[in-house]
Amino acid sequence: MSEEFESFKERVRDSTDIVEVISNYVVLKKRGRNFWGCCPFHGEKTPSFAVNPEKNMFYCFGCHVGGDVFNFIMKSENCSFIEAIKILAEKYGIPVPEKQKTADEIEREKKTIQVMEANTVAAKFFQACLLNTRYGRKALGYLESRGITDGIISKFSIGFALNKFDALLVSLGKRGFGQELLVRVGLAAIGRNGVAYDKFRSRIMIPIRDLRGRIVGFGGRIVGDGQPKYMNTSETEWFNKRFLLFGLDIAAQEIRKKRQVLVVEGYMDAISLHAAGIGNTVASMGTAFAAGQAKILRKLADEVIFCYDSDEAGRRASVRAVSVAREAGLRVKVAGVPEGKDPDEFVRRYGMEAFMQVLQQALEGMEFQINETILQNNVVNFAGKAEAVSNILPFLLECKNEIEVSAYIGKVAQRLTIDEGLILDEYHKTLRSSGSRNGRSNTLPVVNVTATAVEQAEKLLLKIFLEYPELAVDNQDEISETNFTLEVYSIIYKAVLAKPLNEPVNVSRLSEYMSNDVLVALAEITVNQEGDCPKKDVSKEEASVIVADCLKQMKKASLTREYEKHSSLAVQYEQMGDKRFLEELMESQRIKNEIKKLYGN
Ligand code: UTP
Ligand code: MN
Repeated sequence: MSEEFESFKERVRDSTDIVEVISNYVVLKKRGRNFWGCCPFHGEKTPSFAVNPEKNMFYCFGCHVGGDVFNFIMKSENCSFIEAIKILAEKYGIPVPEKQKTADEIEREKKTIQVMEANTVAAKFFQACLLNTRYGRKALGYLESRGITDGIISKFSIGFALNKFDALLVSLGKRGFGQELLVRVGLAAIGRNGVAYDKFRSRIMIPIRDLRGRIVGFGGRIVGDGQPKYMNTSETEWFNKRFLLFGLDIAAQEIRKKRQVLVVEGYMDAISLHAAGIGNTVASMGTAFAAGQAKILRKLADEVIFCYDSDEAGRRASVRAVSVAREAGLRVKVAGVPEGKDPDEFVRRYGMEAFMQVLQQALEGMEFQINETILQNNVVNFAGKAEAVSNILPFLLECKNEIEVSAYIGKVAQRLTIDEGLILDEYHKTLRSSGSRNGRSNTLPVVNVTATAVEQAEKLLLKIFLEYPELAVDNQDEISETNFTLEVYSIIYKAVLAKPLNEPVNVSRLSEYMSNDVLVALAEITVNQEGDCPKKDVSKEEASVIVADCLKQMKKASLTREYEKHSSLAVQYEQMGDKRFLEELMESQRIKNEIKKLYGN
């Protein structure tokens, strides 16, 4: 980013009053150092949404969203970082620097506008053909037979392409949209004889919009039966299915409110569910759910429910989709409509209540993946079971929560009636060979009852470091040795270390390039003032004492983790009759003694 933009951004940041901005969305009341209100991102009646004006951060203790004033605007207005800055600049009367555009950029922008305009006008033309011409009657009847009302037709701007080779070309041509443009947009093509023709003919036209509601392409469905059932706009730089979700512009608000999104395969499924009142539905437009789509949804929701067709293809696609969504940091569930129906048929036949039941019975993502894998393998003999286990392992490795992993391993063992230790062993082997990803330790921890106490200490430590970054530097040696329990905390720690010393950290600026998980943790740390968190005016001396105490607790926790690792390995080896068990036992004893020596218990 240019220097000019950088300084503009900082000016906006410095001029913004986070309490004033958020007050436009939420009623806030001061209590202690924070302002409190009911969270606008999830439904609640008692306030758990806090804003810290000193640090320019907000955090919701209920739904765990948080960030600075820019993140708040991005979430509320559903916009990008740059757009959020512009919104705030406008509010505070700060002139937005005019970027010098290159000739290429100007040309591209012009083209984009032309494409969107052509699509918009085409959609209006298609809609007029559907509603106002006799050629549209059959299509209208077909839509009616599928339960699609006038209201839904207008909500989704559904239209009809006439059964002619030049209807659109002629009509849009009259309005100044030339052949060349319509070909570029994907609405027309050039035939072998060099003559342009309408690409979509005698089809129900479903506009596909981007998140901002701009029409970027069309899906065209044949009226009734026939092949191909759907024709879509061919891929252009404006129409890339891997970054688009059908219905998202309409569903975004509801998704954000519920923090949950329902993903179906088809246009008609999404339209039908919206008609039934399930407003947080989008369609992936086919079975391949892409990382780009997941990333877009992650900004609006915490949880995704896949409700694909329950045929073989749909179920296999769901298995993959779960992994893609999980990788993006979403909680995942999979719902299955019974009897091989798709959601559209199901909801029309059995109604909304029955469909809600289907959603309620959705399986947790991992559970679905395990079930499917077991179904796909012949698990009557041991070879089949081993095969199933090795197919399930990749899913377990994707799981970020070791306690969950250990619970799932238990379930798999039970389902396959094999020894849990065998699966554990395979899991550890794979984990080691895959090089302990996500910074996790190589063992399954026994549930650690003191985890929260240590986490508190870590958060407190970071809170002090944000105030006195020089203390972070002073204690550098101590910390690399102990390590944080959560990766997000060590990322925040490293970010503090990378900042110039002797001034409190500008938290909002620090957060700018952080991933969402880290951002939320940072917001929680700055806004939180529970327990023995320091007052604003804690002196550096007091701070040093607190730091020493936190480090002591963290050191103990890390030794305890080490101890648990070695002692559980010892148990496993012993069960397997492996001689290394003695080695592990000795090591765990040594650590136990060290803990005793240092902490007296
Ligand atoms: P489906 O065949 O399940 O479509 O394909 P559907 O939504 O149930 O359609 P109806 O109910 O018969 O009208 C799911 C999605 O896959 C894409 C479309 O996005 C469709 O909505 N698809 C399917 C195509 O792009 N082309 C095709 O020929 C078929
Ligand atoms: Mn269908």
